[in-house]
Amino acid sequence: MPPVAETPTEPRVIAVTGGSSGIGAATAALLVARGHRVISLDRAVPDATFAAAIADGRFQYIACDLAREEAVVQAFARAASEHGAIHGLVNSAGVESRHLLTDMSSDAWDRVIDINLRGTMLCVREAAPHMPAGSAIVNVASIAGKRMSYSGDAAYTASKGAVLAFTRHMAFELAGQGIRMNAVCPGPTLTPMIHRSLSAERIEAVAQTVPLGRWVSAEDVAEAIAFLLSPAAAMITGSTIDVDGGMLVSNGTSYRDYVAARQAQR
Ligand SMILES: NC(=O)c1ccc[n+]([C@@H]2O[C@H](COP(=O)([O-])OP(=O)(O)OC[C@H]3O[C@@H](n4cnc5c(N)ncnc54)[C@H](O)[C@@H]3O)[C@@H](O)[C@H]2O)c1
Repeated sequence: MPPVAETPTEPRVIAVTGGSSGIGAATAALLVARGHRVISLDRAVPDATFAAAIADGRFQYIACDLAREEAVVQAFARAASEHGAIHGLVNSAGVESRHLLTDMSSDAWDRVIDINLRGTMLCVREAAPHMPAGSAIVNVASIAGKRMSYSGDAAYTASKGAVLAFTRHMAFELAGQGIRMNAVCPGPTLTPMIHRSLSAERIEAVAQTVPLGRWVSAEDVAEAIAFLLSPAAAMITGSTIDVDGGMLVSNGTSYRDYVAARQAQR
């Protein structure tokens, strides 16, 4: 008989990496609003929007640099000792870089791989022993992992492709413990990461390439993550949800150009 995943009881304890900004912060806020207790692992402190949730224990911040193995080990040991069990893990922390490969140092390459891929691996390794059957993990990959990065570089694309491969493999490996693992692939998502790397003009130009007509919001991605964590996704593992406004199906075609060319032939 294959293992049977138990139906989790809610509210649950959910660790979110990168919970201080962007997709991680939106996910943490959504999970807190739905009654879960969130433990955020980030090297940056959360902003004031979490003050009330911190005060009443629904949001806990643990300072942690995911590039440092010992810090990750200590963070999950602390989370497990304080909460007993961890029912969910969202790996959202990530960085991007923007180098041509001919200009890229191996240190720059290692930084992206260490945080995006190795950091994800470390968190899964440290969290899984504390996760009972019925728990779930969601890795925040990217459509870059299926195609290529629009704002980053080859290191970023490679890291996200590897996160998707890791997700498939670990979904199989953890199934015996009744732990599900899935990934979300956000398309262009307007977060501080993007505001740091793209000009206002470029941000507007990218919006024109999204078939659904706007940037993805961090909240759009958070909804998909919350679904994959929930009992509603009890038989979904090793899967990917693209939250990309149709970017992948458009295959790089400008939506505005596509429509304009056909309207011109009327
Ligand atoms: N914004 C997008 O367009 C987009 C698209 C696809 C995928 N993603 C992915 O979504 C995830 C979240 O990105 P975002 O856009 O919210 O970015 P963001 O910069 O707003 O947030 C990233 C968070 O990760 C944290 N972080 C980075 N390095 C860390 C480290 N070494 N240790 C601990 N915390 C660390 C940061 O402090 C920050 O709080 C990333 O994995 C990113 O690659 C983003």
